[in-house]
Amino acid sequence: MNKITKLFGIDYPIIQGGMVWVSGGKLAAAVSRAGGLGLIGAGSMQPELLQRHITKAQSLTSRPIGVNIPLLYEKAHEQIDMALSLGIKIFFTSAGSPKKYTSYLKDHGATVVHVISTPEHAINCEEAGVDAVVAEGFEAGGHNGRDEITTLTLIPQARSAIKIPLIAAGGIADGKSILAALSLGADGVQMGTRFLMTRESSAHENFKSLLLQSTASSTMTLMKSTIPVRLFNNKFAREIMQIEQSFHGDNLKQKLNEHLGKFRARHGMLEGDLENGELEVGQSVSLIKNILSVEDVFKELLHDYQEAYKKLSQSL
Ligand SMILES: Cc1cc2nc3c(=O)[nH]c(=O)nc-3n(C[C@H](O)[C@H](O)[C@H](O)COP(=O)(O)O)c2cc1C
Repeated sequence: MNKITKLFGIDYPIIQGGMVWVSGGKLAAAVSRAGGLGLIGAGSMQPELLQRHITKAQSLTSRPIGVNIPLLYEKAHEQIDMALSLGIKIFFTSAGSPKKYTSYLKDHGATVVHVISTPEHAINCEEAGVDAVVAEGFEAGGHNGRDEITTLTLIPQARSAIKIPLIAAGGIADGKSILAALSLGADGVQMGTRFLMTRESSAHENFKSLLLQSTASSTMTLMKSTIPVRLFNNKFAREIMQIEQSFHGDNLKQKLNEHLGKFRARHGMLEGDLENGELEVGQSVSLIKNILSVEDVFKELLHDYQEAYKKLSQSL
């Protein structure tokens, strides 16, 4: 048992990151059933929809399930209260200050984890009283840090900055990278892209098929001056790039808002519009060659981890 399995009461220190439009109750329950920790991504859900996903997950497993709440959404407080009322005890907060809800959640008996992208933010989390930190490197899919710190350099720095348990994220998609993250000082890993590419994720089939054809250069980060996001290089991404080259200051913000404010992420990831939709995905996409069930992903991860561990110890 390590610090993360103990903290959450799970078998393996492997967490499925909350992902807008992709990680509903079905995916989270499958990950928790397999012995990891599944998170429902509340960022794309109205509180009523979140309620349905939590209830569904609870009907599929009695193992611990968590919820990811991006704090920039105006309904974050409602989502938190909804999840608490349904007995959720594990909250991963992101995209905001850890000071905002940690005391409130802890007063309600919850375990709180916050996502950060710099060692300084890790220290803020410890001071705010969170139970663990997810340190997410720049390789990660979805929104990421402005400072572009990669997982390989972020994890050791976050490890020396804080004493509380540390979860590594960004670019981790197989057993070898889990081993690498643990050897850098992490107590567990959070993976997004690998779980997006499973049968149980609610990503559209078009999106999953597109990802199987990706190469190392298929993703890019855009909107670095506002909210940086790593996504698939498609027509939508190239339009955003064009806007970023043509406008500045408030004009840029306005143009970006106009372009984004059309449910692009929903159209892309959930409804499968591969040209005009926003397709968030991490760099590890090019390492993933199959769409498996979550159960088979876990078998593959554990086998790969053990093989890599054996090989490493023999080479010394
Ligand atoms: C499609 C997608 C949506 C995501 N949405 C969220 C989100 O709503 N909240 C959040 O904290 N992180 C979000 N993330 C980040 C993941 O939770 C996770 O930390 C990240 O994917 C890890 O990096 P990886 O993609 O290299 O595995 C998202 C990632 C992806 C790929």
